[in-house]
Amino acid sequence: MAPPVILIGSAGALGQELSSQFQAAGVPVYGLSRSNFDIGLSLPRLVELFQKMGARAVVNCLAMTGLDKCFREQPQAFEANGLFPNKLAMACKILNLAVIQISTENVFSCNINELTYREDDKTLPTTVYGFSKLLGEAHGMRDSAPFYVIRFPLLYGPTHRRQIVARMIKEVLRGNEVSVASDVYSTPVYTPDAASFIVNGVIGETKFAALTHLTSGHRISLHDLICIIAKGIDAKGKIQPTLSSRFPSLETKPLHGGLQSDVADCLPWEGAVTRYVDWIKTNQKVIIDEN
Ligand SMILES: NC(=O)c1ccc[n+]([C@@H]2O[C@H](COP(=O)([O-])OP(=O)(O)OC[C@H]3O[C@@H](n4cnc5c(N)ncnc54)[C@H](OP(=O)(O)O)[C@@H]3O)[C@@H](O)[C@H]2O)c1
Repeated sequence: MAPPVILIGSAGALGQELSSQFQAAGVPVYGLSRSNFDIGLSLPRLVELFQKMGARAVVNCLAMTGLDKCFREQPQAFEANGLFPNKLAMACKILNLAVIQISTENVFSCNINELTYREDDKTLPTTVYGFSKLLGEAHGMRDSAPFYVIRFPLLYGPTHRRQIVARMIKEVLRGNEVSVASDVYSTPVYTPDAASFIVNGVIGETKFAALTHLTSGHRISLHDLICIIAKGIDAKGKIQPTLSSRFPSLETKPLHGGLQSDVADCLPWEGAVTRYVDWIKTNQKVIIDEN
């Protein structure tokens, strides 16, 4: 049987998508989530655990997400997003086991209109979430350990049920009016495409660079993204453009996200939106009835 992969954060949105795709590719998954795994495990215990599993790689998509939550719970955010991935980097150095660490566009300032960020651009986070995720990129170890960082822009897709895109789409499907920020930008990536890149890398069909930006390369506002999807599904609810400042937050929101890459091809844009639209049409009733 193919050697398994250790998937940390397997109950999260990206984790669920990865879990299905690894299994579909014939790769057994050791899923680690809050119910069966403690990020406070000491380094020797972590090494021991991984050694027993005999895995081919570790994918870490565990994170405390949500800007306000990270600001409110700073010690927990730094522990989950920053300290824990560094412990993983040490474990993988000891075991010579590849780790794929998921990161974010929020390691950049994201405060310059029209700018999208390349791998070599200077990181300058402005939020607790961004700082904690940057710490988790384990910069001091990346060159000497098999530790690969993949940064994502906004993710959307079937498993991202609790996220802003899905929440807005659910409301317009129900016929409700929503106000969506027209001054927040990213280069959105469809979660199944994100997962597929990672699965192909782990099974050896593509090679990971030490640091990769995975992006659709299509810079778009959140408002316009929701409008395109809503049009595709013929949703009845109205979508009003608004400014993000209408929604209070504990830190200044990074508005101008978006990534480009010098090491990886862009992931699909139009085709991905079409696949998402088709998925929503097929699952419309479930989405509307969901809490
Ligand atoms: N979503 C996006 O648009 C986006 C964009 C760029 C990058 N990313 C990155 O992509 C990765 C995956 O994010 P996602 O969208 O899948 O988020 P998610 O759905 O919130 O998944 C994160 C998972 O980590 C778990 N977790 C957090 N702290 C934990 C702890 N102390 N112990 C155990 N489990 C813990 C969460 O469990 P609980 O739910 O129980 O807390 C959740 O299941 C993260 O690294 C994130 O930074 C996401």
